[in-house]
Order: sequence, then C-alpha cells, then structure tokens
Amino acid sequence: MRTADIRSRFLDFFAARGHTVVPSAPLPTPDPTLLFVNAGMVPFKPYLTGEAAPPWPRATSVQKCVRTLDIEEVGKTTRHGSFFQMNGNFSFGDYFKEEAISHAWELSTSPVADGGYGLDTERIWVTVHHSDDEAAAIWRRVAGLPEERIVRRGDEDNFWSMGVPGPCGPCSELYYDRGPAYGRAGGPAVDEDRYMEFWNLVFMQYERGEGPGKTGYPILGELPRRNIDTGMGLERMATLLQDAGSFYEIDETRPVLDRAAELTGVRYGADHRADVRLRVVADHVRTALMLLADGTAPGNEGRGYVLRRILRRAVRSVRLLGYEDPALPELLPAARDCMTAGYPEVAEDFARISQQAYAEEDAFRATLRQGTTVLDTAVAEVKAEGGHLLPGPKAFLLHDTYGFPIDLTLEMAEEQGVEVDREGFTALMAEQRERARADARARKSGGALDTGALRTVLDAHGPTDWRAYDTLTTDSRVLAVLGPTGPLPSLAAGRIASVVLDRTPFYAESGGQDSDAGALTGASVEAEVLDVQRPLPGLVVHQVRVTSGELVVGDTVRAAVDPEWRLGARQAHSGTHVLHAALRQVLGPTALQSGSYNRPGYLRLDFPWRGALGPAARSEIEEAANRALRRDLPVDVRWMSLPEAKELGALALFGETYGERVRVVEIGGAWSRELCGGTHVEHAAQIGLVALTSETSVGAGMRRLEAAVGFEGFGYLARERDLVTRLAEQLQAPRAQLPERVAGLLDRLKAADQRAEELRRRTALARATELAAAATDVHGTLVVTATTDGDARALALATRDHLPAHRPGLAAIGATTDGGRAVLAVALNGAATAAGLSAATLVKSLLGGRGGGTAEVAQGGGVPADSLRTTLDALPALLTVRG
Ligand code: ALA
Repeated sequence: MRTADIRSRFLDFFAARGHTVVPSAPLPTPDPTLLFVNAGMVPFKPYLTGEAAPPWPRATSVQKCVRTLDIEEVGKTTRHGSFFQMNGNFSFGDYFKEEAISHAWELSTSPVADGGYGLDTERIWVTVHHSDDEAAAIWRRVAGLPEERIVRRGDEDNFWSMGVPGPCGPCSELYYDRGPAYGRAGGPAVDEDRYMEFWNLVFMQYERGEGPGKTGYPILGELPRRNIDTGMGLERMATLLQDAGSFYEIDETRPVLDRAAELTGVRYGADHRADVRLRVVADHVRTALMLLADGTAPGNEGRGYVLRRILRRAVRSVRLLGYEDPALPELLPAARDCMTAGYPEVAEDFARISQQAYAEEDAFRATLRQGTTVLDTAVAEVKAEGGHLLPGPKAFLLHDTYGFPIDLTLEMAEEQGVEVDREGFTALMAEQRERARADARARKSGGALDTGALRTVLDAHGPTDWRAYDTLTTDSRVLAVLGPTGPLPSLAAGRIASVVLDRTPFYAESGGQDSDAGALTGASVEAEVLDVQRPLPGLVVHQVRVTSGELVVGDTVRAAVDPEWRLGARQAHSGTHVLHAALRQVLGPTALQSGSYNRPGYLRLDFPWRGALGPAARSEIEEAANRALRRDLPVDVRWMSLPEAKELGALALFGETYGERVRVVEIGGAWSRELCGGTHVEHAAQIGLVALTSETSVGAGMRRLEAAVGFEGFGYLARERDLVTRLAEQLQAPRAQLPERVAGLLDRLKAADQRAEELRRRTALARATELAAAATDVHGTLVVTATTDGDARALALATRDHLPAHRPGLAAIGATTDGGRAVLAVALNGAATAAGLSAATLVKSLLGGRGGGTAEVAQGGGVPADSLRTTLDALPALLTVRG
C-alpha cells in the first residue's frame, strides 16, 4: 500500500467517526519551547492544556515532524528519520481510553478492502503503563488479546511527554511482529527491531514541569479535561505494509536512496557503512526539502543551523561515497517527486527551494576546499616535526572556523597516516556546547526575565488588552513590575524593569517590525518605554526606565506611543512590503523574503539569490518600488481564514496556528499581498520615499537589501549629494567627469607605485652586490651579516646569488618589523649545503629553536629588535664550532 493511500485511509477513517480533518501545521513552530513541530499534538497544545477552547471536540491530522536531537542515529537503526509524518486522532475532553483503543484496533486490523490496513491480529502486541489495569482490560475485551501480548512497562517506556513542560500521561503502544528474520522472539521488551512500534496512544491527563530526561520532572497537576493524543508513524506503517526492510526503503524515500546509489556506483546492501551513508542521504535530502518548503533558510543559528547541518551532512555523505560533483541537483528533484502527492507546494515552489539548496551546497563545497588546504598544511606540519597526532585545537579550528566536520578531519588525516587528538577536540567541543546552552537559556527566558513569573502574571490577570491597531494612547493600570529577581512593588527613578499593563497601545516587536517608543505618565511618575515584547502569547511586556517619580503597582498611567515614531514605523513597514513586491516583480518569485527588520527611517530585507544583483538591477528594483508610491496604491488590511488567504495567493512567511483568523495586508490589491500583523500607512504615497542604501551578502546564497525610508530617504540622498559636491570641489572637476578623473588618478598612482618598486629593487640589488663583495671568510665559508629596513628574505637571497658559486657562502639578514620585533633570514649557496651546512639549523640555533625552512633558505622571528645585531654576530661562532 502506497504511503499516500495509508495517509488518506487514516483521515477518512477518523473523519467518518466525527473528527475534523485539520491540515498539517508548517514545520517551524511559534511554540517557544521548540524549533520545529516534533509530534502530531504540537499544534493542538493550547487545546490540550486548556489554554484555549478547542474549536472541535475531536480532530485528526497528518502532521509533518522534524526531530534532530538524535540525528547521529539516522541510518544506523532502521526506524528513525529526521523528517517523518505522524498520523493522529485527538479528543479534547470527549472520548477517552475505550474509544481510542477500539479505533486504533479497528483501523489497524480491518481488511484492506474495507478501508483498513489489514494487519494480522495474531502478530500485534501492545504495551500499557504498569499501573494501567484499565487499558489492559480494554485491550482484552475489545481486541481479545491474550495476556502474554499485553506487556506492562514503566515510566521510561509508557509515560509520554514532549520532553518539555506541558501535557503528558500514560500511554499504550501497538507493536507488530515482523517475523524471525528481524530478530528474537519474546515481544517488544526483548527486541524492538523485530517488534516494531507503529502507534502510540497517549491518555493525556496531567501537566508536567521542568526536569531532565523521561522521568526526572514533577507532575504539576491534572489537566482541566482528559484528552486523547495518538501518533501513528506514517513511515512505520508504510514499512510494514510495503514489507520494506527499513524506514528508508519505502516509496517516499527509496527513490532518493536509489539515485544516490546510482550516482556513487555503490550497491545498497553490500556494505554496512555504505548503507548507513545512503540512508543518511535519503533521509536528509527529504528533510531539507520539507524544511525549505516551509520557509526555513540555511543559517548559523536556531532553525537555520539545523537545516544547514542537515544539508551538509547529506552532501558530505555523498562525497564520502565517492561522488565529488554537486549532488543536490541530482537528488533534490528525486525527493520532490516522492513528496509532491502529499505536499503539492514542494513542486510549485521548487524553483526557490532548489535555488536555496544548491547555493548552500556550493558554499559548503568551497568550505571543504578551504578546509582541505588547512588540514593538509596542519598534517604536513605535524609530520615535519616527526609527530603523528593532529592537535585537538587544530581539529577544533577546522570544525569551528571552516565548518569542517570532525569525521571528515578524522578520515582525511587517517588517509595521510596521522591520527587526531580526539580528547582535546571533544573537550573544546564540550566547552563550546556549554557556552551555546547558556546562551540559549538566556535567550529563551527573554534575557533576565523568568517565564515562571510572567506566567503567574498572565494567569492572574489574563491576556493584555492590546490596542495597537486602534489608538496611540490608553489609560492603563500597572499590573506588575518585574525585576531580574522577581516581582517588585514599585520602581524608583533611574531604574529599569519590565512592566505589564492591563491595556496598551504599544506595538510589541514582531514580524520584523521593531517595538514602539513612547512614555508612561502618571500623577507622580514619568517613564520611558525602551522595548516592548510579547514573551508569552497574549502577554505584552514593556521594558521601562523611570525618569522621574516612582512607578507603583496598581497606579493608573497614561500609556502613549510617540506619534512621530509610529508614523515612521508604519512608513518603514509598508516600505518593506513595497520593496519586497518590487523585488519579486524584477527578479521573479524565487526572491522570497526570508527575513526582515524595520524601524522608523530604516528597513532591511533578506532573500535567497545566487550572486550579487549589481547596480542596474538595484536601480530597477528601487524604481519599481517608488513607482508604487507615485501611483499612491491603497493599503488595505483584511482578516480572513488561512485557506482564503492562500487562495488569494497571500505570501505567508511564517507558520500560523490552526483555527486562527489571519491578517492580510494588501497594497494595490494583488500587487502586494502578505500575511502580516504589523502597522501600516493607509496609502503608498505616505511612505514618502524608498532609497536603497546597500546590498550585501549575508551567508550562502542570501542577499540583504537595506534602504532609508520616508524623510530618512531624503536625508540619505542629501548626504550623498553633499559627498559628490565635496569631491567635485577637491578634484576641481565637473560632477559628470568625476569617475573619469578618479580613474586617471588611480592610473597615475599605479604607475608611480611601479616606479617606486623598481627603484627599491635596484637599490636592493646594488646593496646585495656591495654586501657580497664585503663578505668575510670564516673557516673557508664566505659570510655576510647585515640588517635592512626592507625585505630580509629577498635581500638574503639576492646577496647569496652574488657570492662566488664555487665557494661555500651564506648571507644572514635581519630586519625589524613595525611591531618592534625582528625577523632573520639565512640563505646558503649550493657549495655551502654540499659542505653540510643547513640554513634551517643555523636559524634554529640563532633563535633558540624557533623558525624553520630548508637547508638552502630559512627564516624565523621573535627576537627583540635591539638584540638583532648580537644575534647576527653570534653566527660566525656557530661555523667555528662546526669547523
Ligand atoms: N504524542 C505522541 C507521540 O509523539 C502520540 O508519540
């Protein structure tokens, strides 16, 4: 049975039993505890915890999921993928254990002809939590399962939570016996390869708190309602029904694996190591496709980094299998063809998706080239010193600075007969991870703010009455003042803290738009609003500095947004939409914004594009944007359902949660239509002006445009004009002739440089001739020692070349660097090396072991400048000793 069929049978089965079919949420999730949706229940979390009223009593979905915590395991076991789909049925305070179990049993075992999966009832095993007699009794009654196929297990295996605070409960899992070819008999407790879990039924009734691992957290209490959350692994069911050996061999992954095998000439099934790599390729290429499709772009942190790592691991695995050309153009289309049936957008959006993926591969290939040079040099150094161990810090540098993965370092060093100090490397990695974790912790808690304290405020007072769309001032009550150590009764002049109001007109930073500036004013207090965030859904938090008086909890204040600021913010945000539309008008639809930021007077916009745009394209984009201003296109804000917005072709850049009405901002109707929660002008002419100020690269395949907006735009142009005026005055040339005049000056400068260089060379040569002529004889060797303020090595070589070739001769030249240190270069002629002298040995003796080179020429540094002469004077003695 094809995966697409398994998917639709599931939805049909539950729809026929009163469940509303809910489409998959996008992979990037607004849930602050996660980067990506990692279980079918994530989009339903607010309904499961009771935070929001569920729009339906029962629902069903096939949810896209990404889990990368155990990414190293991908390909090694046969059951884990970084991307997978979870089929789920959910009850929000409606049915509980009895129906959940009967449904799962019925769908799994009813005949294929009747819409079921037709699994053999004799081969199904189940597990229940050891305390759950009720579930065990239901299994006996409903499914007629014998006692020995109802296995009781502890919290480790049969108590489910998301791994973070939230809803949880005991669970019951269904397993299928794949037969003796896959492992030992005895049930899931004995062998999870042979007995493969395919469905997990969670009887969700508790809320858990913070704590490590699967059991190290407290149960905070009962949920307001008892819910059902189930997860059937779509790929696992496909593995069973297609009798595939593994997750990677079903119809949605195998074609990618086969294509990779074809490219690399490796036969799947012949060698375990190669098989693991092929599976990694099959898994990762698909995951990358799905993440790119949902708007994640490769980057250096958070979601972007996960994607980057996945793409790189895929590319690297193909290389390790021996294929050196760009691989994604061969593999990504195969993954697309596998996924189009379930997700048409991967085909519709493939131009953009592939452009981002290919650019990332190009960049990684460049990294590999650079890193390889660094690695080869490091290996050569290790060998030159007679060692066999590449130091840990070198491996770390390769990893950290050049993005060179450690297993590649290991393998490539090994090929050259050198081992890697893994302990040193691992220690440095652990340090770095600790730094990253501390950083993530700090960020998650919103800097110094503790989410616990915020939640308490939210629970006590409910969501903030948010008025940013309709007014610039409100009379507001101060509900809480939160300092870094917790709630405060008041805030004195000069102090900064977070303030929660019952109602606010302030825009909280989101969707790229910076937060509003303004003030809180009361009978005996004045305070400045520095920042506004929404750290929990529904809760607006102001960072405030009291400028005079005292802000007291319970006070009423007038909260007022600075109207000038807000006007600038609206201009900048509408300007961003206009520029985005202009960009896509000129470059085509693949130039889809992947990040933006705007505040009064300024905007920036990032988008995937290979290579620089250049001045002509930039001018064209700028002109298209300003034409929209000149046409004074109307700006309209409309609320609608997500499907309606999609139907209209609105650009959705980030994930929305289910059931929500979405806000669509249109400029000139279809000319620009984006999902957006920001504040905007009413018609385009109010933006004033969009003046592009720069175009830069922000990572592989990603460009950034920056612009000055509104009055700042005029300011920018005025400054540019002033600059040209001053240049024209300085060069005493008409403005139009400036480029020509500057080019002429540069040519003359270059010619002058060349003449100066030639002069230096001739002087050096003359000096070399003089020095060679004045060489002294030290035990049969002609020796020159001298200092220069030029290039020591060049002078040493030139002087040596002027010594008679038939007699042993050497030149040692010292020079002082700008930093007050000295360098020393020694060059020997052929007769001197033939007599057994070595430049490298001499330099090392003079510099106490530092420096290096060959027998003919060597150099070193590190001596203080004032001892340069003494060092040089020690040279004849070295020859004497040798003699
Ligand atoms: N939420 C449950 C799981 O992910 C069904 O296994």
